[in-house]
Amino acid sequence: MKLKKGVILAIASFTALSFSIQAAEVVNNATEIWKDTDGNPINAHGGGMMYDNGTYYWYGEYKGEYTYRSPGVGWECYRTMSGGVSCYSSKDLENWKFEGVVMQTDTNTKSDIHPTMVIERPKVLFNEKTGKYVMWMHIDSPNYGKASAGVAISDSPTGPFKFIESIHPNGHISRDITFYKDDDGKAYIFCSSEGNATLHIVELTDDYLKPSGVYTRNFPDKFREAPAVFKRDGKYYIISSGCTGWDPNEAEYAVADCITGPYTAYPNPCRGKDANKTFYCQSAFAFQVQGTNQYVIAFDRWNKRNLIDSRYVWLPINFEGAEITVPWQDRLQFSAE
Ligand code: DGJ
Repeated sequence: MKLKKGVILAIASFTALSFSIQAAEVVNNATEIWKDTDGNPINAHGGGMMYDNGTYYWYGEYKGEYTYRSPGVGWECYRTMSGGVSCYSSKDLENWKFEGVVMQTDTNTKSDIHPTMVIERPKVLFNEKTGKYVMWMHIDSPNYGKASAGVAISDSPTGPFKFIESIHPNGHISRDITFYKDDDGKAYIFCSSEGNATLHIVELTDDYLKPSGVYTRNFPDKFREAPAVFKRDGKYYIISSGCTGWDPNEAEYAVADCITGPYTAYPNPCRGKDANKTFYCQSAFAFQVQGTNQYVIAFDRWNKRNLIDSRYVWLPINFEGAEITVPWQDRLQFSAE
């Protein structure tokens, strides 16, 4: 059968259009500043990602303008005033609308979320049973001595989140934290504990607001920080960093058949220039692009002397069996649904 010229042109332009829609969805990993839809730099550091009702929500540390060194602390304790927790929303992972500071700080000088306190690595999940959005985050004193896990709650993904309390889960300290919901609706916090030496995986109560009392100790004396957790084909993955303050080090990952472990540790998954320094980055969170087989790891590239100017690097996670690699790419192209 002979196709008419007009039909051929129509097919060709439809194919080109489909291709250009896919190719548009990219993230810049180079040196440029990633801006929101108002043209302002995205201020959502050490963040977390939640997908809810067709929208991605990116939460993060809303860093203050000015970086200082915490007085009287021996190590390089660079800080900004905490600006609370920010939220950005997107349908396509490329264009991010600023939804505001969804958990505000508290002017009460005794509050755990006073601007002088550390509010880091916020993550939000929806609880089907209570219909509430729950946030867990790292809460600390200005010298990181308090080492606690904080919890907040909201009726909406865009806040306002009401801070409830900060705790030592099961009586143990908690610094770098992530919050993960499994397919059965049970949720867990993963936190650097025991002086950052051991990662605790802490099961939460059904309302996600407290530890249930069940937890496991993982990677004892390995000093893993910045856990980014995801699940694929029934296996659980943790990508994490070593423990060197704001300075980069070599990532590692671990795989398990059960969320609470035991985990098998694997060496650095990063590939390419500066892979041995995790591309001068540290893991923040990992997620699956909805409706696709694409998994993404989001990193922070900290600028310790000007923390608000820290950048974001998002890279693909590639799989070979259960093992993973994270290759450097200047730009990440998201798979289309
Ligand atoms: C490393 C952690 O991963 C960061 O979130 C932050 O707490 C810095 N340490 C502070 O030095």
